[in-house]
Amino acid sequence: MNSVTKTFGILTGGGDCPGLNAAIRGVCRAASTRYAMAILGIANGYRGLIDGDVRVLGPQDFSGILTTGGTILGAGREKPFDDIGGDKVTAIKECYHRYNLDCLVVLGGNGTITTGWRLAQEGLNVLGLPKTIDNDIVGTDLTFGFQSAVAIGTEAIDRLHSTAHSHNRVMVVELMGHKAGWLALYAGVAGGGDVILLPEIPYDIQAVARHLVKRAQAGKAFSIVVVAEGALSIEEAGLEKKERKRRREQTASIGYRVAKEIEEETGMTARTTVLGYVQRGGVPCAEDRALATSLGVAAADLLAQGKYGKMTAVVGREIRSVDLNVPAGKVKSVPLNHYLLDTAEAVETCLGR
Ligand code: F6P
Repeated sequence: MNSVTKTFGILTGGGDCPGLNAAIRGVCRAASTRYAMAILGIANGYRGLIDGDVRVLGPQDFSGILTTGGTILGAGREKPFDDIGGDKVTAIKECYHRYNLDCLVVLGGNGTITTGWRLAQEGLNVLGLPKTIDNDIVGTDLTFGFQSAVAIGTEAIDRLHSTAHSHNRVMVVELMGHKAGWLALYAGVAGGGDVILLPEIPYDIQAVARHLVKRAQAGKAFSIVVVAEGALSIEEAGLEKKERKRRREQTASIGYRVAKEIEEETGMTARTTVLGYVQRGGVPCAEDRALATSLGVAAADLLAQGKYGKMTAVVGREIRSVDLNVPAGKVKSVPLNHYLLDTAEAVETCLGR
């Protein structure tokens, strides 16, 4: 089949997440078998373009990787546009032209997609694929990696229940999600969290304490409190951004702070588990494999048609594409009218308000 794109480069930016290899396989298989494109793999995100760390990828490279975690290309958080007055962007452009790339395919979260959009403004052809366990990319209803991370978070909450009720303790579990509460909300509802605290709803510790005491008085002396890493109290929400950042850097992560506040307010014993990178590791779940593969194939179709400057996206139940400027520089937060918030409160989960 005729293809506008003859050669493209592919990289994975930001943190790793389940489904990256499935997406690489999806793009590369469709691009090489359907459209006979040549593919160059770029190592460690945008860093590989700066260093010229580029290699030819053939069928053997994207075989047997559908089910594997991490990324065969290596990940990196390089932000070339932060190098003000430096030459990283120039190096990237030179590398792109040196290898005669017709397009750069970037798999990543908000930072990677925004950098891709800025490179497109610099004259490069760029296509984005949205990946992140945070599900916080504007323009797509879903990102691959998210559903695997929700499953891991839910399993952790299930396991914490045993200790919670055996010891009559409050178990605080801190989940990732960056500045958005998607992961904590979905895993929290799926795991039956008694309290779920999200960045989108600054919490009132008195409301949390009242809820835990009420449960104890009703005979449930244990509780599970799910806290998004970006959650913040009403007091913190009122601070200047700089001051908030300063305080965060000086104190323990939010899960530990919430546990301490709960102990002070209620006299109950609280323990904290920070799930951390466990949420990003390991094999992708079935839904993420299918989603990542579909988004990859959609990217190959856009490459063949020469439709650059786009990000593949999930809209409703369909795979579509949106212009790169739709997600660039933004964060998709949980809207305050999201149905899961009402669902949570209807089953007596406190949202800290
Ligand atoms: O964006 C994915 C994510 O895991 C966030 O949930 C988390 O805040 C961040 O990455 C951690 O980043 P790093 O890998 O740089 O520690």
